[in-house]
Amino acid sequence: MKISDRIEAAMTTAIRQGQGGIAPAKLAAALDYAVTPGGARIRPTILMSVAMACGDDRPPLADAAAVALEVIHCASLVHDDLPCFDDADMRRGKPAVHRAFSEPLAVLTGDSLIVMGFQVLAAAAGHTPHRAIQLIDILGTRTGMPFGICAGQGWESESQIDLSAYHQAKTGALFIAATQMGAVAAGQEAEPWAELGARIGEAFQVADDLRDALCDEDVLGKPAGQDDLHGRPNAVASFGVQGAVQRFDDILGGAIASIPACPGEAALAQMVRAYADRLVPAGARRRSTVPGE
Ligand code: IPE
Ligand code: IPE
Ligand code: MG
Ligand code: MG
Repeated sequence: MKISDRIEAAMTTAIRQGQGGIAPAKLAAALDYAVTPGGARIRPTILMSVAMACGDDRPPLADAAAVALEVIHCASLVHDDLPCFDDADMRRGKPAVHRAFSEPLAVLTGDSLIVMGFQVLAAAAGHTPHRAIQLIDILGTRTGMPFGICAGQGWESESQIDLSAYHQAKTGALFIAATQMGAVAAGQEAEPWAELGARIGEAFQVADDLRDALCDEDVLGKPAGQDDLHGRPNAVASFGVQGAVQRFDDILGGAIASIPACPGEAALAQMVRAYADRLVPAGARRRSTVPGE
């Protein structure tokens, strides 16, 4: 089965379970709305790719890990779009959850998805509970305080932002979770996989800054120009477009070099390269060669 089909099948099963029984209908609908259709599904794709590179000897656990990571990512987007954070009306080309449903339902959707992430892992423990506990620990670390998304979002309420800590927690954290959870789901140590996740996360952040600066809302499916609008420090402001593209290429080179020895090392490097081409659009690379930029 293709990785993308595996991810979608596992996501659908998890959301159906979250909607079952006598549940409040609007919140049940909002859960589905928040996760389908998905975005790039880049985090679960990386997770699955690492699990497969490590032998993928417990596919149901890798499926659960991929779902857990993606529902937490989706939850973070639902909360991020709320008026008390970025007040964004659009997400993935359609009205944000708080616009399509309501603010209380958006808060509850995010909460429910976060809880679901941990439930899915607990339910998949089976004969390898030590792996499941490690997965829960990694996901918790990369979601909460002081190293997770909560910390990342928290930096936006400080008058002085530690840029590197901000980016590592807001964006990098779930990429570290992706590589480490993929390895752990397949019975490998987490630690050697942290660097790859951190580097992919850093590259992703630069690519996101480029897209925010260069693409319009139609292409992004969410408001563009947000970094400038909110006065957020970003790679384009710091290095210019050409410098940011160069930085992206350099970081990715480092990411590929950091892949730990494993049976699927070459295929994994290929996956990282293929994602790089999707992350920084061809238009951005072309524009980066315009003289004077
Ligand atoms: C958006 O992440 C949030 C950031 C960390 C910048 P993605 O660009 O991966 O969002 P989707 O899941 O594809 O919509
Ligand atoms: C959202 O960050 C990522 C989270 C950790 C919630 P941003 O606010 O920078 O990303 P977009 O532009 O809304 O996707
Ligand atoms: Mg935000
Ligand atoms: Mg936002």
